[in-house]
Amino acid sequence: MYLSREEEGIYQGERGETLRRMMEILVALGDIYGAERLVPVRSVQIAGVSYKNIGEAGLEWISDLQGRVVVPSILNPAGMDLCRWKEMGIGEEFARRQQETIEAYRRLGVTIDCTCTPYQIYDNLASLGDHLAWSESSAVSYANSVIGARTNREGGPSALAAALVGKTALYGYHLDENRRPTHLVEVEANLRGSDFGALGFLVGRIVKDGIPFFRLQGAPSRDELKALGAAMAASGSVALYYVENVTPEPPGPWQAEEMIRLGRKEIDEVYLKYPGSGADVVALGCPHCSVEELQAIARLLQGQKVKKELWVCTARKIADANPDLVAAIEDSGARVFCDTCMVVSPATEGFAKMMTSSGKALVYLPGLGGVAAGLGSLEECIDVALGRS
Ligand code: F3S
Repeated sequence: MYLSREEEGIYQGERGETLRRMMEILVALGDIYGAERLVPVRSVQIAGVSYKNIGEAGLEWISDLQGRVVVPSILNPAGMDLCRWKEMGIGEEFARRQQETIEAYRRLGVTIDCTCTPYQIYDNLASLGDHLAWSESSAVSYANSVIGARTNREGGPSALAAALVGKTALYGYHLDENRRPTHLVEVEANLRGSDFGALGFLVGRIVKDGIPFFRLQGAPSRDELKALGAAMAASGSVALYYVENVTPEPPGPWQAEEMIRLGRKEIDEVYLKYPGSGADVVALGCPHCSVEELQAIARLLQGQKVKKELWVCTARKIADANPDLVAAIEDSGARVFCDTCMVVSPATEGFAKMMTSSGKALVYLPGLGGVAAGLGSLEECIDVALGRS
């Protein structure tokens, strides 16, 4: 891979051991994937934050690094609400280790926002055509597909390397030729809300790491696109998709290798196969809730009390900017947790079955959280939390 004189100097250790190690990671990835060179990134989103996932080895690795990030860099959800972790049932030892992890990132200049929806709280991280180094699969999908920026799905170390160096290797989704659709998906039904999670759940399984191009009836909202991309990234490994007349156009001519037709019947089968009955907890906010989603939850809960645990996950900046909404939700007995989510926190391990409106959580809860999962619309999830069904 070609390196400029400055990059070569970093690679040789002229700017210290940390940057040398970071450049080594970038060059190794570039060599594996046949990158011609490095490319500057506008922002970085770093996975490998929850102590549940990184453990002691990860904490040591991060703590050992010196220096400062050189581009705006924020974090993925941690293993707990950084303020209300006791309410989540998190133990002291885990909390201490999680805080140490956060402090290690803070020392490197990373902004301590722990969210998978950075685009909901900052508008200066990604625009059409920007190169990024983002990690979390739903954020990667949203950045590539809805914003029209360009990012591979970075691992924690490679994202941190990009943050400290300010560049990433130019391969994969950074290049036009790898951004052409592979599957045409015709959806013959009017979808809303969690239907997009169910659709993503189905399509991800079929296309795996392909690039679906959707023809939908009607235009989905940003939250629905968020849910669609998140589910496809979980049930498959879709990092880029298109929706006709909604998302930015694919570059260059393309031809579908396969055509997929789905309708109401297939979507409904997902709900039937994964019912919410028997759930002892309901969790919303995967990916993290937007303001509009918090408003919808508050409306449905108004004047009522939950009979089951109801967790709502969002970014701290969104909760802090909307205290009345948070209070309205919590008046019902539900809890709004920030900085974390139902999948990356060990707090969910004490439950037997979780009901969710998220196609992504439906995939990950059993595998990563050890909790059975059911899928329902937002209204159905609230009904279960209220003990109505
Ligand atoms: Fe975000 Fe956690 Fe879901 S990181 S996409 S809320 S699994």
